[in-house]
Amino acid sequence: MENNVLKIGIIGLGVVGTGVVKALSKFDNIKILKAAVRNKNKKREIDVQYITDDPFEIANDPEIDVVVEVAGGVDPCLDVLKTAIKNKKHIVTANKELLAKFGDEIFSLANENNVTVLYEAAVAGGIPIIGPIKTTLRGNEFNKVMGILNGTTNYILTKMEEDGVSYLECLKDAQKLGYAEADPTNDVEGFDTMFKIAILSNIVFHKKIDYKKIYREGITKITQDDIKCAKELGYKIKLIGLAQKLENDELDIRVHPVLVEENSMLAKISNAINTVQLEGAPVGSVMFTGPGAGEGPTASSVVGDILAIAAEISYTDTILPSTRVKTDVQAKQADILNTKNSYFLAINAQNARGTIGTIGSVCAENNINLQSILQKGIKEDNTALIVVITETSYEKDIQNAVKKLNEQNIKVTNLIRVI
Ligand SMILES: NC(=O)c1ccc[n+]([C@@H]2O[C@H](COP(=O)([O-])OP(=O)(O)OC[C@H]3O[C@@H](n4cnc5c(N)ncnc54)[C@H](OP(=O)(O)O)[C@@H]3O)[C@@H](O)[C@H]2O)c1
Repeated sequence: MENNVLKIGIIGLGVVGTGVVKALSKFDNIKILKAAVRNKNKKREIDVQYITDDPFEIANDPEIDVVVEVAGGVDPCLDVLKTAIKNKKHIVTANKELLAKFGDEIFSLANENNVTVLYEAAVAGGIPIIGPIKTTLRGNEFNKVMGILNGTTNYILTKMEEDGVSYLECLKDAQKLGYAEADPTNDVEGFDTMFKIAILSNIVFHKKIDYKKIYREGITKITQDDIKCAKELGYKIKLIGLAQKLENDELDIRVHPVLVEENSMLAKISNAINTVQLEGAPVGSVMFTGPGAGEGPTASSVVGDILAIAAEISYTDTILPSTRVKTDVQAKQADILNTKNSYFLAINAQNARGTIGTIGSVCAENNINLQSILQKGIKEDNTALIVVITETSYEKDIQNAVKKLNEQNIKVTNLIRVI
């Protein structure tokens, strides 16, 4: 860093990159030397002195101190960041997919080269969560981290509940408002939440996480019937990322919709807002809530990381060591079949005598106790919607019970875990 000015190169001038350039204009100690984009000819609302379509030009520029990667995806970002790290550049990134898939490789290389990788924006956008876990909360032993980590799906579920319309209609609305992408798979099938809970689990439990072993289910199967029945029983439906330590020291990490009690804190997180809850000792339970995405909130986290590097770079060779990630111990990740949950089952069955009795006995044969059962009116085709909430049971038992019920033409149309 020359004359107390940190020189940075930005890869990506999309939603986040634009916000970063705007926010950095207020800081005289940060100079953007170069930006890389895919299409140099695209009209942009911000002005950057030098724009290239070759991100390696930034990774290899000897003048640049910090590479800010806000392009997204693995290719070419993995190779670009590895090149930059080998060239002793510090990294700031918002790329959750890259870190969830290749974090080990990136952090190890950064440690070997004595540079820092900061990524506050990669989880829950504008909410400061990674910094606090690694600094002010460092004295805790955590047993659980759970959050609503995807604004798009939380917006869709909120709209389904408030407006009483279908998943598909709410998705279209979210796309019109720019909350959901044209191809919404990453959000609605839970991949985005999976990447974020993988990153959070790594720093909360100090273990390597295999994202491929994380159980993942999105929100595409949630119906208006599910939302209405959940409401009648005093619950709301949310998509969560959850990671918790089990008694055998395995980590139970998963992404799926859940029923949460309507007066719980999680139930109150509406629209595109995100939240992260941590449970540990000695702190107890803490919750961080705020905007999880968007130009301003995400730029806030990226710029915070850049300024943190600017503040330290002149004073120490090992910048922000507390932000380093441990990558030497592989977590033992639990199979969802061995976890215990309470369950909401939506069942469609012929309106015939004995159906409720059969549901009760199939559950009992599989070690499942019922907590409540609700039968809705008979439909024109003489079928009835029956909703069951179970007491805490093993996932493998509930899966067996569902299989048995389906074989007897008592169709389980949805299974949602209750927390
Ligand atoms: N959007 C959010 O609210 C948010 C929140 C948290 C984290 N993030 C993360 O932040 C990153 C960026 O997201 P975004 O929403 O800003 O994406 P975006 O709007 O699609 O912008 C991506 C930018 O990267 C550029 N780019 C793509 N491929 C490139 C390549 N091969 N070489 C050089 N530049 C390339 C694009 O260039 P062109 O402009 O020429 O197409 C564009 O400027 C992603 O990792 C995302 O997961 C986003």
